[in-house]
Amino acid sequence: MKVVTNNLKFNQKLNEMREYAKLNHVPIINDDGLSILKTIIALYKPKNILEIGTAIGYSASIMSMTSDSTVYTIERDEVMYNEAKKNISDLNLDGKVNIIFDDALNSFDKLSDKKFDMIFIDAAKAQYTKFFELYTPLLNKGGIVVCDNMYFHNLVNSDLESLSKNVRNMVKKLQMFHEFLLNNENYETSIFDIGDGISISISK
Ligand SMILES: C[S@@+](CC[C@H](N)C(=O)[O-])C[C@H]1O[C@@H](n2cnc3c(N)ncnc32)[C@H](O)[C@@H]1O
Repeated sequence: MKVVTNNLKFNQKLNEMREYAKLNHVPIINDDGLSILKTIIALYKPKNILEIGTAIGYSASIMSMTSDSTVYTIERDEVMYNEAKKNISDLNLDGKVNIIFDDALNSFDKLSDKKFDMIFIDAAKAQYTKFFELYTPLLNKGGIVVCDNMYFHNLVNSDLESLSKNVRNMVKKLQMFHEFLLNNENYETSIFDIGDGISISISK
């Protein structure tokens, strides 16, 4: 009975979070992306997960609730950070989900004493290569890196000339990240046409 009650409460809270995201235009992972993320976690059973890009704590909460993992997640936007803190506390996940309020490019020292089995990158698309290079030294051997929005609403396959300068630069950087991943001999990478494009890189 307790489990049912807890599940009901959890699902209600997730609905609330989805509603908040929709109303406030917060880009959270979509259902297909979430489904593959949960499958990866069920298969790999990571003990420690690092997420870059918390937003309101939606994916972090689900990753924590569907596994025994401790999640560390980094968010640089204060409004998002406060909203995530509240949501994680409402779900009684304090300690299981730990939010770091900072730019991920400046917060390596706060995590450098930790090791991770999985890193989930879901933040500024133009910085994916930097996030990957900065945080993969903390990945255990055999660990995995999962990235969301690899197709960026399919813009990675579009005619770049038709895009505004800012979007074009971002898409170019994401295309370079695809190349970087696929040519990285230390990782076995696949990019899946699921959700908004999900990559999985397994460290060799
Ligand atoms: C796509 S949303 C994350 C969604 C979340 N993972 C989910 O599915 O519930 C991206 C978030 O990353 C944050 N972000 C972007 N660049 C960042 C950086 N360099 N450091 C920390 N957070 C960053 C943004 O403020 C935004 O809230």
